[in-house]
Amino acid sequence: MKKTVFAALFVIIAPAAALAYPNGTPNYVTDTGPFCASCHSAAKIEYMPEAPADLARNEVPETKHYGAVRAQTPPSPYVELSSKQREEIIRVAKLIDSKSSISVLAPARAKAGQEVTVTVRARGGNGPAIGVMLVDRALRFQARPISSSGWFVSGAPEVKGQDNKAQTTWLDRRANGLARNMSYIMIEEQPFDLEKDIMPAATVTFRLKAPSMPGVYTMAAALFYGTENTDKAGFFQRPSGRILFSEELEIRVENP
Ligand code: HEC
Repeated sequence: MKKTVFAALFVIIAPAAALAYPNGTPNYVTDTGPFCASCHSAAKIEYMPEAPADLARNEVPETKHYGAVRAQTPPSPYVELSSKQREEIIRVAKLIDSKSSISVLAPARAKAGQEVTVTVRARGGNGPAIGVMLVDRALRFQARPISSSGWFVSGAPEVKGQDNKAQTTWLDRRANGLARNMSYIMIEEQPFDLEKDIMPAATVTFRLKAPSMPGVYTMAAALFYGTENTDKAGFFQRPSGRILFSEELEIRVENP
């Protein structure tokens, strides 16, 4: 009886989830935090200083992703692959990781309430999409959308893809009448060719109003990308996604 219920649930849940994962989040057109990407591996153990050592270790690619790729027993979605195929997945993922990067540029000082421009540059993953988030800390489980610490996102971010052309495809899925001043953005239809060194890339320009309370504020950007080919990802819980943070900036907000 229990088994039947579980199987039925899986049938209902899997297609819905497959729509969003692994193609990023075409339907979640809202602000969120890096915690949401629970299936993704976190690039560095330093992103989880508050977590018990075991838990933090289980989140990095070596354990979470390659551990599953090498596993010989279910529930690993890789059990049917030959050891050669497994090593190839790991080789390509490591190469993609080594070529992936994200940076954030913001003024070191601002007056309270002053409008500032923050530029995020990202490159990485195997496409077809990547995601960029502007957050308060480089923390895998505890980062918040930048607006939570008092910064106001004052307009729709300007998004350019690998071709350097402005794109609004994901933003255009916001329902009519909803604000577009997002701190999370997906960049879609990005070309990928590892041999030619062509990878998804984005420049996202945010306009922010500095918090009204003077103080020292932190800011970081996060990149969400994949390392396996999406058409092979029959199992939507593959840990082949990544969360990569930029360095954390400190911005001094002063009395106007
Ligand atoms: C059920 C597991 C799962 C969850 C939960 C999840 N993801 Fe993913 N995500 C994946 C997988 C699998 C991939 C594809 C990795 C690959 O290509 O190897 C992926 C890839 C992505 C990509 C890159 C898209 C692409 O084309 O590869 C983005 C962006 C992304 N996820 C964002 C998010 C965000 C934001 C959240 C939280 C709302 C989230 N994901 C939650 C599994 C998940």
